[in-house]
Amino acid sequence: MQFRDLPLVSGSEPFVGHMRTMRDDRLGFLNRLTREVDRVARIDTFGRDAAVVNHPEVLHELLVENARTFDKTEMMRFALYPLAGEGLFTSNGELWRRQRKLMAPLFHPAQLQRYAADMVSCAARGQEEWRDGQTLSLAKETTRITMSIAGKTLFDADTFTEADEIGDALTVALRWTAANSPSGLGVAHLMARKIVLELMNRVPLVPAGRLVKVADRLQSPLFVPGDDGRRLRAAIATLDAQVQRMIDARRAAPDKDDLLARLLLAKDDSGANMSDRQVRDEILTLFVAGHETTATALAWAVYCLTRNPDVYAAVEREVDALPGAPSFADLERLPLTLRVFKEALRLYPPLPLFARQTHVPATLDGCSLGAGTVVIVCPWALHRRADLWPEPERFDPDRFLPEAEAKRPRYAWLPFGAGPRTCIGMAFATIEGQLVLASLLRHARFEPLAEEVPEVSATLRPKNGMPMRVRLRKAATVGPPLSGSTSSTPRATGRQASAPRRSDP
Ligand code: HEM
Repeated sequence: MQFRDLPLVSGSEPFVGHMRTMRDDRLGFLNRLTREVDRVARIDTFGRDAAVVNHPEVLHELLVENARTFDKTEMMRFALYPLAGEGLFTSNGELWRRQRKLMAPLFHPAQLQRYAADMVSCAARGQEEWRDGQTLSLAKETTRITMSIAGKTLFDADTFTEADEIGDALTVALRWTAANSPSGLGVAHLMARKIVLELMNRVPLVPAGRLVKVADRLQSPLFVPGDDGRRLRAAIATLDAQVQRMIDARRAAPDKDDLLARLLLAKDDSGANMSDRQVRDEILTLFVAGHETTATALAWAVYCLTRNPDVYAAVEREVDALPGAPSFADLERLPLTLRVFKEALRLYPPLPLFARQTHVPATLDGCSLGAGTVVIVCPWALHRRADLWPEPERFDPDRFLPEAEAKRPRYAWLPFGAGPRTCIGMAFATIEGQLVLASLLRHARFEPLAEEVPEVSATLRPKNGMPMRVRLRKAATVGPPLSGSTSSTPRATGRQASAPRRSDP
């Protein structure tokens, strides 16, 4: 079968294809993919078609079996380049393979135990300021918590918030990235790059080395005009300077045990360390890939509980039965908490879309794809297939009981992707999700003040920030002190010893 013969998803308009609907009603578009795409279909993005895959068998072919043929997309690399450079999320080919091999041991579940206490302490510190009956934006609170966990585990920074210089610069750069994936600026760069690469083949007089350099340069934004550009450049300059300062400090006094120190020590097969530039790209990649995804997942998990009072009551009993603040040793006592987190990731996958691009002609599900074809994976749509997830809109953590999991196809649940490029932080995020969720639920009961809807951006954020009223609970506890810290022991709060009440759905 040829690519043009694939069924076209409905809603395509003359000239603009699906671009308008993808821009104006992103969630509606994802729901359309749920309804219409069984195995592979075609969407029209401005005259350039892309494939959408929505079946576990084809996902296995794309992400696992033929992973070497399908790279990360040029557009995603363009948008993330100022921030993440050639880090693990964006790089391709040999560089990616080398880095993945080097970094995988740092994220092995056994290595993550050392970060568990910091995760709980950061959660406790984040909750400290809450007052009984207070209204807050849960999405903002979970972001504060996961940002401080990222700061502590990556850079051993004790106070790490959006107000800090690095946090602020990261926020500016992240906003630019979200606004530019995709963007006209990206399209222009990538078209110019294509022309340069074609010139290389057609005009043998121009030295190829020079053209390769120009083509490489065009993978990232050459110049971003206006205020946005000024802010982005200032933010990147701050990040570069701060991360270099931290690298220099770790080299001078290598006594810390954060991820930065461990990245600096990692060696590849030839015994070589990473360059400072590569360490900078990896640190910022981990920060970006790690904090907002987990924050979003935590906020949706709490929201799902508030809509399902029976599950909420059961999970509250589970977390209240812990002897004290949750710890790494308690993970196995929190099976329902884990199932709640996984089910929230099913209904609200923090990365609702991700994509691949063939660099050579390829076949997928028997269909021929030309070199350069983009293939989209949509966990949102996959996680709502009624044949895989009966009553897909129903929140039911028991879908993740081991016997239920064993009955489903392996690639039916993809919040963390699959294959060689599966999320390296999956175990980290799962431990963080379980511990922080347990900590939040022990500390407070949450009452939603409004119905929430997802906003499809780089991540699946709650559109209204998830306003909640918090009722502080009797079981509220503080976590252990942050490791290596003498000054930041969380204070006991003036919490109320009110009896737990069932929340309104
Ligand atoms: C609930 C939280 C998280 C979700 C839903 C999530 C989701 C994902 C997904 C879907 C991918 C694959 C994207 C693709 O195939 O194109 C990915 C890759 C990645 N994630 Fe996560 N992630 C989470 C947490 C984290 C954390 C905590 C870290 C780091 C501490 C992290 C670091 C990364 C990195 C570095 C990659 C690129 C891996 C590679 O290409 O080799 N993520 N993530």
